[in-house]
Amino acid sequence: MLKDGSIAIDGPSSSGKSSLAKALARELGWIHADTGALYRAVALWLGRTGLSAEQEADICRHLPDRKIAYAIRDNTTRVLLDGEDVTDHLRTEETGRTASRVSQIPCVREFLFHIQRDLGKKGGVVMDGRDIGTVILPDATLKIFLVADARIRAERRFTEMQQKGIPGNLDDIQKDLTERDRRDRTRSLAPLIQAPDALLLDNSHMTIEDAVKWIRQKLPN
Ligand code: DC
Repeated sequence: MLKDGSIAIDGPSSSGKSSLAKALARELGWIHADTGALYRAVALWLGRTGLSAEQEADICRHLPDRKIAYAIRDNTTRVLLDGEDVTDHLRTEETGRTASRVSQIPCVREFLFHIQRDLGKKGGVVMDGRDIGTVILPDATLKIFLVADARIRAERRFTEMQQKGIPGNLDDIQKDLTERDRRDRTRSLAPLIQAPDALLLDNSHMTIEDAVKWIRQKLPN
């Protein structure tokens, strides 16, 4: 088994990227890097400072003063914002929506690019996001474009929210996911697209274990 390669997993919201990347990394003894968490950390910072995602000039002026970094714990990434581990505050609907908006701003993508690239370069990483195979790790050992039916993605998100005790309506969740996908796919900078050399995997009717097995069979020895 190769020791220090990288696997890029890109796909739309709630397609199961993070769960799959985490399980795969665990099996390989690699690190799982959640790149959406970096955009969410920027969104959290905006919320805390009272800036809106539309205030691009202010965001670009103040962002370089922030320190956003990965810390590795238990084979996965935690995100530090000015030294504070904010990972457990990032998975709210509001943060996801704002993250999708700020991810369209060039200075934000540039700021976060190096954090992702530096970790990816070390190897032994399964990285999930939207532009990993196209921009962040164009030389990844294996690239997966992970998709799932929109209703199934909404149901997964709904179940996840229920488990956390967050109220939600299935139709509203699906509408919200569809809108985020549209924004992520149509933005001019690093849009969500399948890299030409990425393998398409529809996991609508697969368990995480099935998907891990499928990917392991595609890995070079
Ligand atoms: O994967 P996620 O839901 O945590 O990502 C939140 C937002 O961050 C997503 O809507 C778009 C943006 N994002 C991005 O533009 N590029 C990435 N590599 C990861 C996330």
